[in-house]
Amino acid sequence: MAVSPDAGARVAALRAELERHEHAYYVLDAPTVPDAEYDRLFRELQALEAAHPELVIPDSPTQRVGGQPSSELAAVHHAVPMLSIRTETDTTDQGAVAFDARVRRALGLDESAPPVTYTAELKFDGLAISLRYESGRLVLAATRGDGSTGEDVTRNVRTLRQIPLRLAGEAPPVLEVRGEIYMRRDDFGRLNAAQEAAGQKIFVNPRNAAAGSLRQLDPKITAQRPLSFFAYGLGEVRGWTLPDSHSGVLDALAAFGLPVCAHRTRTEGPEGLARFHADMAALRDKLPFDIDGVVYKVDAIARQLELGFVSREPRWAVAHKYPAQEVATRLLGIDVQVGRTGAITPVARLEPVFVGGVTVTNATLHNQGEIDRKDVRIGDWVVVRRAGDVIPEVVGPIVERRAGELPRFDLLAAIDRRCPECGSHVVRGEDEAVARCTGGLFCPAQCKQALLHFASRRAVDIDGLGEQIVNQLVGAGIVRTPADLFDGARVNAEVLAGLARMGDKSAANLVHAIEQSRETTLARFIFALGIRNVGETTAKDLARHFGALAALLAADEAALLEVPDVGPVVARCIVEFLAEAHNREVIAALQQALRWPESAGTARPAEGRLAGKTFVLTGTLPSLRRDEAAAMIEAAGGKVAGSVSKKTDYLVAGSDAGSKLDKAQQLGLVILDEDGLRDLLGAGDTPPRDSQTELFGDN
Ligand code: IVH
Repeated sequence: MAVSPDAGARVAALRAELERHEHAYYVLDAPTVPDAEYDRLFRELQALEAAHPELVIPDSPTQRVGGQPSSELAAVHHAVPMLSIRTETDTTDQGAVAFDARVRRALGLDESAPPVTYTAELKFDGLAISLRYESGRLVLAATRGDGSTGEDVTRNVRTLRQIPLRLAGEAPPVLEVRGEIYMRRDDFGRLNAAQEAAGQKIFVNPRNAAAGSLRQLDPKITAQRPLSFFAYGLGEVRGWTLPDSHSGVLDALAAFGLPVCAHRTRTEGPEGLARFHADMAALRDKLPFDIDGVVYKVDAIARQLELGFVSREPRWAVAHKYPAQEVATRLLGIDVQVGRTGAITPVARLEPVFVGGVTVTNATLHNQGEIDRKDVRIGDWVVVRRAGDVIPEVVGPIVERRAGELPRFDLLAAIDRRCPECGSHVVRGEDEAVARCTGGLFCPAQCKQALLHFASRRAVDIDGLGEQIVNQLVGAGIVRTPADLFDGARVNAEVLAGLARMGDKSAANLVHAIEQSRETTLARFIFALGIRNVGETTAKDLARHFGALAALLAADEAALLEVPDVGPVVARCIVEFLAEAHNREVIAALQQALRWPESAGTARPAEGRLAGKTFVLTGTLPSLRRDEAAAMIEAAGGKVAGSVSKKTDYLVAGSDAGSKLDKAQQLGLVILDEDGLRDLLGAGDTPPRDSQTELFGDN
């Protein structure tokens, strides 16, 4: 059938009108027509497109959801990396003063120079996204990933009505918009209620719900999830003359039809920033979405360029957080959890309370000593604190509100000295804070944690062996010890494909990952065993000292004490671990399954230009992973330690560096960024690796 010119024109007019209404409704929150009228226009367009399939275009308002689920999210390289911002840890006005002072110093402004102009925005608590528009059309949406490589979530993002498929006005050839996908609190509440009614997963907070919803393989699921978006910056841009200020950029993004949060201000000097910080703190609970602070950005783009970056963080921006939030609630009971090394942790069961953007129902009590010290008792009113992502914590009881006498809590008595997971004896050593289950790998809780630790990145690194799969493998009795993973009769593609949420492809990938992990190093292997108090650094020390597994297995406490940095506690943990018959069996089986190069014992002192120097690594480096940086330091004879002390010579700090950086500053240690490290190594010309940086923890 020939396309009637009338149909073509009507379709175009309908699309333009629908786009206008969608922008008014979803972005401006100011509907221009009644819902029924919108629906009528939408159905008319649908009918016309059905009658004239050749008129259907991907950007049509009717085409937001479509296609089959994909098997995985493809990797996307970000031409302009997605950076993080430094966090100002001082939550008082001083945080703003310190940022302004750094900016002024870096710009070489003396006291007589006028105040710097800033844009202050909210720090949305969702996940970063990059939207690529080519000639005004949304062609790619990608998550941040490690900053260099993210995941292609285009089909999912297309389902968000707040995100235009076509930009309004005259769009440049390439415009990458950076912003945050988040979930409103009311939407989150409704979603969880619906999930619960349907017997589906409950999300812990709006951010997790947003992340889980966005990273779906089936866009139809994302389409049903109430996601929102705010634009806050730019990525790659071609063929567009940028406004000369960040506030101008935000205005331009709004004019293109993108949602830009109205709570922002252009202001001057630290006073203006601190005022915004305070104003937004007062507004925080009334906002329809979670924020975890505010963000300050130098407004003039020319100045941003002048200021540039340190590691992966712009010098021209900072996140200024709010203090941890505290609320009072009732302690309903104390449950216990069993960790990898059998540690029995008391967990407070709380009357649900909303704090810092999430409903908290439990919080850690750490151990019996903490319970005694704080003197919290079941039935007490307690103060609960939540700081950002940190596990909520019981600060202490409100003794004045204690009704009559409440009994003290005794953890061991409460569980009758038996592990709640496996029934084994629970013991608490004389000078130990923590009570432990003696069940070892017989205990399913320990068994699962041990497997996860064994498979983790810095251990033998089995990519894709996550909690869900481990739970199923252990639950079904297929796997009990790490050695079982390498037993083809137990774990194979067929068995794995039979697990929930596993397809043939993921099963094959996991089998491949297991095969790859067979090739490892002695240090990784020792670390993977999960011996208490034997972290990555100690494992390396042990591997270097003994050179071969047989030598370590034969070592007694005295021999272990000869290893640099191994003290009596660590030595005893190793001896006890190796004394267990079932641990020996697992090690023997793993020795058959895995391979690593062994060197003769090397007790000789390290040589090289960094001999005798101790380094600590923290934060994300721009191009090196931590294991790579550590390997380079060690190759030059240096040593990498896990925590900062007076014995540390250098702290190598990347972005998002936390307490270690603070401590190193207090101790006045030499702090290096990646370039500084490379200079020290004399490796300044090593080509940067862009695609594999990662965030590493701060412990
Ligand atoms: S600007 C180059 N602005 O915070 C600066 N980020 O560590 C790039 N975030 O994951 C970020 N609200 O997704 C910027 N108004 C805002 C933000 C914001 C939230 C997130 C961002 C990133 C993290 C930065």
